[in-house]
Amino acid sequence: MTLRAVLVGAGAMGTEWLDAVAASPDVELAAVVDLDGAAASRAAGGRVPWATELAAVAGSADFVIDATVPAAHFEVTASALRLGLPVLGEKPLTATLPQALHLAALSELTGTLFAVSQSRRFELGLAGFKKQIAGLGAVGSLTTSFYRGPRFGGFREMMEHPLLLDMAIHAFDMARYLLDDEPVRVFCDAYNPPWSWYAGDAAASAVFRFASGARYSYTASWCSTGFDTSWNGDWQAHTAAGTAAWDGDLAGPASTLLETISASLAVFVAALRTGQRPATRVHRNVLSLAMVLCAVESASSGLPVLVDDTLLTAHVAAIASAPADVAEVLRGWPSVRAALLETG
Ligand SMILES: NC(=O)c1ccc[n+]([C@@H]2O[C@H](COP(=O)([O-])OP(=O)(O)OC[C@H]3O[C@@H](n4cnc5c(N)ncnc54)[C@H](O)[C@@H]3O)[C@@H](O)[C@H]2O)c1
Repeated sequence: MTLRAVLVGAGAMGTEWLDAVAASPDVELAAVVDLDGAAASRAAGGRVPWATELAAVAGSADFVIDATVPAAHFEVTASALRLGLPVLGEKPLTATLPQALHLAALSELTGTLFAVSQSRRFELGLAGFKKQIAGLGAVGSLTTSFYRGPRFGGFREMMEHPLLLDMAIHAFDMARYLLDDEPVRVFCDAYNPPWSWYAGDAAASAVFRFASGARYSYTASWCSTGFDTSWNGDWQAHTAAGTAAWDGDLAGPASTLLETISASLAVFVAALRTGQRPATRVHRNVLSLAMVLCAVESASSGLPVLVDDTLLTAHVAAIASAPADVAEVLRGWPSVRAALLETG
């Protein structure tokens, strides 16, 4: 039986998701929702109903794909979960950590799956690199170099931390996947080279300590020209038995965006059908978002940041702002990290 998906957010990424749904043997499109009715109607193309709010078409759906702007992720996912609809959401999970913890608790409360589609996790080359690393034993250090000079125009050129907030989440999530481990501390220096065409910091160096003691170093710039790395970045893993390297598919065939989100959709559908928890479930994905927001916090203060301290502050804020039923779930967590890992 195919599952019926409502697409919420009919912008650039929404169009990619329409293609992924059309290509999937497991999913059919039920409806399209966008605040901008003209965009929703265009994307629906006369084939399916469209609306400007989810509640109007929720009855026809088995799950929601949320491809709205980051600022809307919290509201869209919270409404879907309250309607009993599982959500496959675009990255980043939410704009803030208290919102992310709220949604993790709401997913528990409603017993409804919420996963975040980190498309780059599904790159074929990444799986090959992980296999190579596994054959070498424990990792002492993992590094990513990312240097490109895209001229996006628009909102990215106005953000305070365009590189960390809009791009680094991919590499940070890939690092968690490669190490099979979780971050505990970060020191990050973010800066804007003098020739940068961005208003905010377009370059950064961050060092994370993971629970195993492995260090993950990320050095990157979005205003570097002349010797581009791939969009996945240039990776090395240093182990006692040697070093594994991956150029992020600069030399080989990189996966297309359609291929990676199709793989992400297939994993989500399998999770809905089997009840198994996908690796990108909201609880675990909070830790990728935490890597980004702790790096920003460190860059702003100039000091190292302990991830658990930031999670604790977010937990207190989430309890204070949540409705009683969600706050009760949050209060019942033994610790934030334990809740994210045990139920993740
Ligand atoms: N995985 C990737 O590689 C990748 C690539 C690009 C974008 N993204 C992510 O996809 C998401 C969308 O990005 P985009 O470039 O398509 O943005 P976009 O601005 O092109 O489209 C977003 C759409 O969401 C709609 N929208 C906003 N708030 C809404 C709400 N409350 N309810 C319904 N619709 C709402 C807007 O009207 C717009 O049509 C972002 O989270 C972005 O980070 C991921």
